[in-house]
Amino acid sequence: MTAEEAAEFVNHGDAVGFSGFTPAGSPKVVPKAIARRAEAFHAEGKEFKIGVYTGASTGDSLDGALARADAVLFRTPYQSNRDLRDALNTDHAPYFDMHLSSIAPHLRFGFMPKPRVAVIEACELTNDGEIVLTSAVGISPTIAKLADKIIIELNTKHPKALKGFHDIFEPLDPPHRLPLTLMKPSDRMGNATIKVDPEKIIGVVETYLDDEVGGFAPTDAVTDSIGKNVADFLAGELKSGRIPKEFLPIQSGVGNIANAVMASLGTNPDIPNFQMYTEVIQDSVIDLIRQGKVTFASGCSLTITTPVLKSIYDDIEFFRDKLVLRPQEMSNSPELARRLGLITINTALEADIFGNVNSTHVMGAKMMNGIGGSADFTRSAYISIFTTPSTAKGGKISAIVPMVSHVDQNEHSVNVIITEHGIADLRGKCPVDRAHAIIDNCVDPSYRQMLKDYLALSGPSHTPQTLRACFGMHITFQETGNMLDTNWDKFK
Ligand code: COA
Repeated sequence: MTAEEAAEFVNHGDAVGFSGFTPAGSPKVVPKAIARRAEAFHAEGKEFKIGVYTGASTGDSLDGALARADAVLFRTPYQSNRDLRDALNTDHAPYFDMHLSSIAPHLRFGFMPKPRVAVIEACELTNDGEIVLTSAVGISPTIAKLADKIIIELNTKHPKALKGFHDIFEPLDPPHRLPLTLMKPSDRMGNATIKVDPEKIIGVVETYLDDEVGGFAPTDAVTDSIGKNVADFLAGELKSGRIPKEFLPIQSGVGNIANAVMASLGTNPDIPNFQMYTEVIQDSVIDLIRQGKVTFASGCSLTITTPVLKSIYDDIEFFRDKLVLRPQEMSNSPELARRLGLITINTALEADIFGNVNSTHVMGAKMMNGIGGSADFTRSAYISIFTTPSTAKGGKISAIVPMVSHVDQNEHSVNVIITEHGIADLRGKCPVDRAHAIIDNCVDPSYRQMLKDYLALSGPSHTPQTLRACFGMHITFQETGNMLDTNWDKFK
C-alpha cells in the first residue's frame, strides 16, 4: 500500500512504536504521511496527535516531520532533532527522557500506554510473519509483540544479506527472568528475525531510501587531545595491571566527541586490539574493524553515514563475523555491562568539581538530546569515563562548574573525567581531593583560579558547596553572556 493508505490506520491519540535506533533503521515514509494526515486534520480544526515510542533518536522524516506538524502527543525515550528539540523546549511536545535499556521492559510492564500500531523498517518479510530488520534493532521486538497492528516499510536499500547480523532476544519479565547468558561480545543467544502473527501485518509500504544519518564534524585540536588523553589513560591502566592484559570491551557514546575518541584509540600503539560492546556503532568503529584494531563490535545500530554503510554492504561477508546488532534491552543491559567489565566512555555537557555529570540540560533547563544509554553503562562499568571539551561557546562557558545545573550521572558512578587539558582520576578520592584533581587537570586555565576561589568560599566541610554561589557561573552567563565575568563577591 502507499504510505498515505498506511497512515490512515493511525488515529488521534494512538501510541505508535517505531523501529530503528538513531536514524538507522528508522521508518522514513509512513511517519511523514502521518504528519501530513495530522496537518490535514488541523486544517479542518480537528485534533490529531500521536504518542511516539522509538529506540532512540530518529531521522528527520520521523521526529522532524511530526514536530513540524505539531503532531506529538508525547515522546520518549531520546531525540536529537532540531525541530523536535524546539517543540519540547517550548512546551509543544511533552517529552520524557528515559534510560534506553528501560523502555522495552516498561512497555511490557504496562507503565506507559501500549503501542496500538508498530511501524517497522525491514529488508525482508516472509508470508508467515518473519521480519528481517535493517540497520538497527531498537525496541522492534517488543513493539511488534505488543501492537495490535503492524505496518512494514520494506526498504530494499538494505540488502537481504543483512539476515544473520541481528541477535534478537527478549527476556521474560520478573519473577520469571533468567540470566542473559552472553559471556563475551561475540556470543549470541537469540534469533536472526522477529516472528509475528502475519494477521497483525496490515500493510507493507515499499521504499528505497538511505538512513538519514548526518555526517560527523571533522576532528580538531581539542577532540584530538581528548582522544589522546583517553588513550593514554587506558594505556596507563593496562600497564599498571588495573586493566587486565586481555583488555576489556569498550562502550563508546554518541556524537562528534565520541567519534573522535574512537579514532584516537585506534591510532594509539599502546592500546591492544579490542572488542566493543556498545549501543551505537559510528563511522570510526568501521574504520577500526577494517584495520583489525576492533576485532568484534556488538551494538544496537549501525549509525553510519551513507557512503560508509554502502561500503559495508558492498563487503558484507567481511563484516558477517565481526558485527552483531541486538535489541537495546540487551545492548544496554546493566547486567551485561557489569559482567563483561565494560570500559565506558560517554560525553558530558558539563561536569562539576565533585564529579557529577550533566549530559542533557543546557543551563539546567533546555533539553539537548537525552540521557540515552549513558547511565545504563556508567553505573555498571568496570571503569566509567566522561569526556568533554573544557569550554563551550568560544570559552564563554566553562564545562566544569561548581555544581551541575542538572544531574544525569552522580559522583558515585563517575570514575574519570577527561578534557583536552588532561585526566582527573576520581577513584578512591574524597570530594575535596576530587575537586583539586578536576581543577588542576581538566579545567581550562582561564577558569582555574575562579574555581579554586569558589572552593575557598565555604568553610571546611565534606563537600564544600556554597548554596548561594553554586550556580554563580551559570547566572553570570545568563546575565552577561560570559562565565568569565563571574564575581564571587556578588554571591557571598
Ligand atoms: N553549556 C551549553 N552548551 C554546551 C555546553 C555547555 N556546558 N557544552 C557543550 N555545549 C554545546 C556545544 O556548544 C554544541 O552546540 P552547537 O550544536 O550549537 O555547536 C552542543 O552542545 C553539542 O556539543 P558537541 O561538542 O558537538 O558534542 P557532541 O556531538 O559530542 O554531543 C552530547 C555531546 C553530550 C550532547 C551527546 O554526547 C549526548 O547527547 N549525550 C547524552 C546521551 C549519551 O551519552 N548517549 C551515549 C550512551 S551510549
